[in-house]
Amino acid sequence: MDEIIICVGSSCHLKGAEKVIEIFKEEKAKNNLDNIKISGSFCQGNCTEGVNIEINGQKIEAVNEENAGKIFKKHLLSDQNE
Ligand code: FES
Repeated sequence: MDEIIICVGSSCHLKGAEKVIEIFKEEKAKNNLDNIKISGSFCQGNCTEGVNIEINGQKIEAVNEENAGKIFKKHLLSDQNE
């Protein structure tokens, strides 16, 4: 089971965390990946670099609407793509 945790603290929320969650959910559905758990977290303590997420325990900062799809592919589709 892969796990994505997206910070939905107030700073990351203002920087578009909801949109990032939406993109990850879309990618998950598009790729028929039932084994990915997507959840939110409280502030991850790195507000200035938000939106902050964790994929399988690896911290990734500065996620936004533009790069979320690419990050998803890189980390969760690596054995299927490229
Ligand atoms: S609100 Fe996301 S790291 Fe603080």
